[in-house]
Amino acid sequence: MSTVSEPTSVDRYPFTRVANRPPLVVATEGSELILDDGRRILDAAGGAVVTNIGHGRHEVADAVAAAMRSIDYVVPTWATPNRVALVERLADRWLPDGFDHVYFAGGGSEATDTAVRVARSYHLARGDEGRYKVLARVPSYHGATVTTLAIGGHMARRSGLDPLLAEWPKVPWNDAGALASAIEAAGPDTVAAFMAEPVIGASAGALVADDDYWQQIMEICEHYGILLIADEVMTGFGRTGLTWGHQHDPVRPDVLVSAKGLGGGYVPMSMVSASNHVLDTISDAGGSVMFFTYSGPDAMCAGALAVLDIMERENLVERAASMGERLQSSLRSALDGHRRVTEVRGRGLMIGAELSGVTAAAAVDACVERGMWVYPAGSGPAVADALLFAPPLTVSEDEIDRIVAITVDALDSL
Ligand SMILES: Cc1ncc(COP(=O)(O)O)c(C=O)c1O
Repeated sequence: MSTVSEPTSVDRYPFTRVANRPPLVVATEGSELILDDGRRILDAAGGAVVTNIGHGRHEVADAVAAAMRSIDYVVPTWATPNRVALVERLADRWLPDGFDHVYFAGGGSEATDTAVRVARSYHLARGDEGRYKVLARVPSYHGATVTTLAIGGHMARRSGLDPLLAEWPKVPWNDAGALASAIEAAGPDTVAAFMAEPVIGASAGALVADDDYWQQIMEICEHYGILLIADEVMTGFGRTGLTWGHQHDPVRPDVLVSAKGLGGGYVPMSMVSASNHVLDTISDAGGSVMFFTYSGPDAMCAGALAVLDIMERENLVERAASMGERLQSSLRSALDGHRRVTEVRGRGLMIGAELSGVTAAAAVDACVERGMWVYPAGSGPAVADALLFAPPLTVSEDEIDRIVAITVDALDSL
């Protein structure tokens, strides 16, 4: 268990005013958050679907501390031992074949935003200067930078920001034909890429498209010469029971973005990779992709390596599949016919319970009152709200039983 020094007033913490004082977490351990009053909260969403290896893994802290004792800041264009080791580890054991290079950033939005620059640079390198639009689905969430908000179909998070957002076409989430029509309408020579989450997370609660969807999407992208960007910020690094969420379907992305599970909540790390063909095209034309000041600090790379060590040693990708099956089938039988739930769905340990007649915020409040955090998913009126379950991949069978029992009790109360 790790502890922090006592703050003087939690009320000063929120950036803008909030209705309720936020809980004060003073320690984290296993699948639990420990509050200042001693209460333990079961973390059924791994925070924001981040904590894949579980809380309180001191070896990650030790790896970060040891690295930071030898090296602090080095400009990202220069190599350091842990940068090199992490690129090698990812290319050798984690990335799909034909993906040998990695760009690091701090969070998911920086990585998806960078993927847009990669797509544009690829078309520029080919002399296709008219291609710049990035199409995406409704619902979807691709980040909170101005560009990624413009691309994404999270209507609630875009609200009021419209004048800042480029008007790029959106397509319904489960209709491949609609993508072809949207590309035709936008002008195929203007489209650079299509960005999509293999399993839709924050904006909808683990929506999985039809079986033939991804194959059709890939064929359409190939036909029109546009890049397919898989946004695996949430689904990557084992969350869905396979290394990558896209591997459940016969699809091969051109650009692959991931974040949360890479740092496991311990270090702010995200990554962009792309097929060697895409990166060679950019390099051959003399192009490059500008770094962020904090693109892969050595100590953060050391932390990510320690996270991947745990993932590999404890077979957590496989565990996400088996425990995910258990959680999904238990939730499904416990909530079958419940008046507040219309569907339970998802892949691996990324599971959504679609709600009826109640908001995700109200359902989460009822869960927190009963000692459990779960992620509120939803994006406005286009899709129903959902509870998103994504506990650490280390979650125990007992904890799964508790997640189900608390969820039923909370929803019964609404
Ligand atoms: C699929 C997806 N893309 C991008 C993001 C943005 O990541 P971040 O919040 O780390 O910037 C998220 C965050 O939830 C996400 O789920």
